[in-house]
Amino acid sequence: MKVLHVDHIGIAVHGIDAGRLFWEDVLGLSFEGEETVVEQKVTTAFFPVGESEVELLEAVEADSPVGRYLAKRGEGVHHIAFRVEDIDAALQELKAKGIRLIDEIPRTGAGGARIAFIHPKETQGVLVELCERSGKGDGR
Ligand code: CO
Repeated sequence: MKVLHVDHIGIAVHGIDAGRLFWEDVLGLSFEGEETVVEQKVTTAFFPVGESEVELLEAVEADSPVGRYLAKRGEGVHHIAFRVEDIDAALQELKAKGIRLIDEIPRTGAGGARIAFIHPKETQGVLVELCERSGKGDGR
């Protein structure tokens, strides 16, 4: 597979507004808006950095993947996403290598990206997302 670059770093936060105080006001990153991914019950906020982004993740409700993560582990780095050229080919390659996947089939993430997570048991405990974006130039 071809991994192009780090697409984004997902950070679980209790509140995006509070998160902006650091990422935008202190670090000086530009805030590019929020998007709620209804299926995942999460609101995401993007702060582009070069070819990558910081992505804050706020749970829409406690009973959601990010809500459960926050309850168990508190705020912090939730996942690292790598941009790949072809996510279908990447997933096939991983399956052929016997790598456990959370998503065998890509689903739609924020910004319309096609995404899939690799099981953290395969990655020394890091939740790794693969991400394919068709559009160019929006930095997501
Ligand atoms: Co992500």
